[in-house]
Amino acid sequence: MAIPEYVGAFRGRDWINTQDWGREDLDDILEAALDLKKKFKKGEQHRYLDGKTLFLIFYNRSLRTRNSFEAGMTQLGGHAHFLDPHDSIYTPALPGDEEAYKTERIADVGRVLARYGDGIAIRIYGKHAKWIYGRGNQIVREFAQWADVPVINMECDMYHPCQAMADIMTVLERYPKPEGKKFVMSWAYTPSVEKPMAVPQSAVLMATMYGLDVTLAHPRGFELDPQVIRWCEENSDRYGGSFEVSYDVDEAFEGADVVYPKSWLSLDFIPPKAKSPDFDGLKKLFDANKHWICDQAKIDLCNEGVAYMHCLPADRGFEVTDEVIDGPHSVVFDEAENRMHVQKAIMAMLMG
Ligand code: CP
Repeated sequence: MAIPEYVGAFRGRDWINTQDWGREDLDDILEAALDLKKKFKKGEQHRYLDGKTLFLIFYNRSLRTRNSFEAGMTQLGGHAHFLDPHDSIYTPALPGDEEAYKTERIADVGRVLARYGDGIAIRIYGKHAKWIYGRGNQIVREFAQWADVPVINMECDMYHPCQAMADIMTVLERYPKPEGKKFVMSWAYTPSVEKPMAVPQSAVLMATMYGLDVTLAHPRGFELDPQVIRWCEENSDRYGGSFEVSYDVDEAFEGADVVYPKSWLSLDFIPPKAKSPDFDGLKKLFDANKHWICDQAKIDLCNEGVAYMHCLPADRGFEVTDEVIDGPHSVVFDEAENRMHVQKAIMAMLMG
């Protein structure tokens, strides 16, 4: 079996935020993902990580991320080892969060696992990051500081870079030339007020890096992290396209080629902006915006071939109607599938 040049091309690097990477690197990852997708479809062997181990630490639940990493690693000839930090291991913790015989300092966990395997992947947000915005990302970076194997962010409270790569892969499959296409990342209502910022933030970072005309639409109060907005403006200056914010959902959907409506929480109601998480306040803000749903009337405002995207799980009947998510514009299962192909590319390039 010939080993492609991309295997090991980024050996040892960490995968935490797409913005840490150059556009050419991301292009290489997408090219490798397409090669791996072709090989998977043809049933061609591609055991490029034979005998290698990736440790998966999930503080939060998952369907897609866990199973696409596990299946992908099997296809690459390696093993993805699932760890439940609330049960199977001592919960990895930052200094100051330690509880005797219940937690273990991340510095120690990272260095131990690095002696046994070839990569560590982590998902952490929400209550497991104490609802302090940025703390989940800090925990992922703490692992990266101590482990001398690649660390992969499987979604923290700031970024979901694997999802963003699958999303842009799906957009490029639909629109190989994305220039001039209108990409709308829109907030959407759901009765749960706990969805993190990671997906919308990574999605707009990526869409601006690929030169799309990006509209970020949300009710007032759901602003993204100002640093993400600055990066989006820099990306669109550098890579072409445009970036604007709209508070009017109908205006945003008008003439869209891609729509990505999903819920996220408001940073105004969790620390460090708020003293403590204010779920009652969040609920009131959410309930005032129940009309932010993606239904057929919204799709009718878009361009004819519009793609409806969602990272899943979607809150059907709230964020989106069945008619839209199960309809002809929906590409949600392509996105879910592409998660596996891009993650295989990332694993092969970092751990090969
Ligand atoms: N999109 C996504 O990350 O799905 P899971 O939460 O099921 O992993």
